[in-house]
Amino acid sequence: MSDKNHSYDVVVIGAGPGGYVAAIRAAQLGLKTALVDKSSHLGGTCLNVGCIPSKALLHSTEVYHDLLHKKEQYGIKADNISADVSALMKNKDSVVTKLTGGINQLIKANKVALFVGEAKFLNVQEIEVKGKDNVKLTAQNIIIATGSTSIELPFMKFDGKKIVSSDDAIAFTEVPKKLVVVGAGAIGLELGSVWQRLGSDVTVVELLTKVAPTFDDDISKHAERFFKRQGMKFELGAKVTGYKEKGSEVVLTAEKDGKTLEFPADKILVAVGRKPFTEGLGLDNVGVKLDERKRVIVNKKYQTSIPMIYAIGDVTPGPMLAHKAEDEGVAVAEIIAGKAGHVNYTAIPNVIYTDPEIASVGISEQEAKAEGIPVSIGKFPFSANGRALASGYPDGLVKVIACAKNDTLLGVQIIGHNASELIAAAVTHMEYRGSAEDMARTATAHPTLGEALKEAAMAVEKRSIHSM
Ligand code: NAI
Repeated sequence: MSDKNHSYDVVVIGAGPGGYVAAIRAAQLGLKTALVDKSSHLGGTCLNVGCIPSKALLHSTEVYHDLLHKKEQYGIKADNISADVSALMKNKDSVVTKLTGGINQLIKANKVALFVGEAKFLNVQEIEVKGKDNVKLTAQNIIIATGSTSIELPFMKFDGKKIVSSDDAIAFTEVPKKLVVVGAGAIGLELGSVWQRLGSDVTVVELLTKVAPTFDDDISKHAERFFKRQGMKFELGAKVTGYKEKGSEVVLTAEKDGKTLEFPADKILVAVGRKPFTEGLGLDNVGVKLDERKRVIVNKKYQTSIPMIYAIGDVTPGPMLAHKAEDEGVAVAEIIAGKAGHVNYTAIPNVIYTDPEIASVGISEQEAKAEGIPVSIGKFPFSANGRALASGYPDGLVKVIACAKNDTLLGVQIIGHNASELIAAAVTHMEYRGSAEDMARTATAHPTLGEALKEAAMAVEKRSIHSM
């Protein structure tokens, strides 16, 4: 056993959105808590190289793109508009620094002990930290929140220069002339958009036959049309097979319908998903079981195969989303403290921050049908919404999927400006097991984009006022 000062009720490994939230909540509940991360820049992937930096880049480039393409429409005169990539990156970095610093303050304010170094299990109650801090910690409960890392295609190893991951693509120093993106999921579409808006010729190569494949078919079709109109190219249903170097370029090869396709590029961004990160943790030392995809297996209380070791977030099965990890962080701390921590997995929103944004909660029409649930559908286009027109964002629609038997909301899918914020209202209705009628009868300020949600819910009963 180590020094008794280093004995805790809870030790959390990993200071991403799952881990730091779990540590703060545990401390709030009076548990003596320590947080370990290999980096002193707290916040994990989300704050350092994921959600936050990408949103800073998306915002800057959206403003730039709007000015370039909508200035006449808005009645603005501006000549010689150009983007300064290094200033854009500086802004992104300062946002990240501010937020990661904020987490340090929160950790301190909540009296969570912070240790910087790599954690490794010595036994079920003891962890060794090696790095900036070198210490052994003992704990009654240990939470694994070590997150995930980009999946590498076996025949295309990341080199940080030509074959790049999202970590690299948020920090290019100049705009690549030709960028090929593998994967039309969240990362591919978001970072593809960033560089496309800055002038890159972007082609997205996707294995499946639709963009944003986890969303409803209607949404994916609209997304493909809108992004193509912005200049992005898509090769859907193409299986990437490899790449070759050709002078200063790289050429991605893919197979589609028995033909070999070639995509020359300056850089290839591989965004084919993420995998759980458990390397070096010594899980074998303690017998924590993993599934076939190397995710830590947990029960409903987030306990691993060793009951006093818990796991949350990307390292466990389920969608790899920061807000899911945060909610699990709160829930696991409450469970450890003897409370009834709980996450409602049917009401977790999913967002892609493109322009227009894509957001959903619950299931799609296709998923409902696959489950044999009879559905009633309501749709409303933003082109019939006053606020969307006044703001210059007429693209997109809201689609409400309700149970045909009892009107319960099964899912809401949005593609449109500010969909990431709009989806919150739908999540609330689903959290309270609301019906399409509840949504349709909820007063909504006019003029707002939110009225499109209300109208789509009204359309379930074919009584939308502002569309036919
Ligand atoms: P993803 O799972 O969202 O999309 C990966 C895409 O790559 C899929 O459409 C898949 O069909 C395709 N793919 C897989 N293998 C391929 C191959 N060999 N050739 C061509 N296409 C292939 O993964 P992504 O975009 O890398 O994001 C990773 C994780 O991070 C996801 O779980 C995502 O939800 C999360 N994330 C969430 C964000 C958000 O909430 N806005 C932003 C960024 C990431």
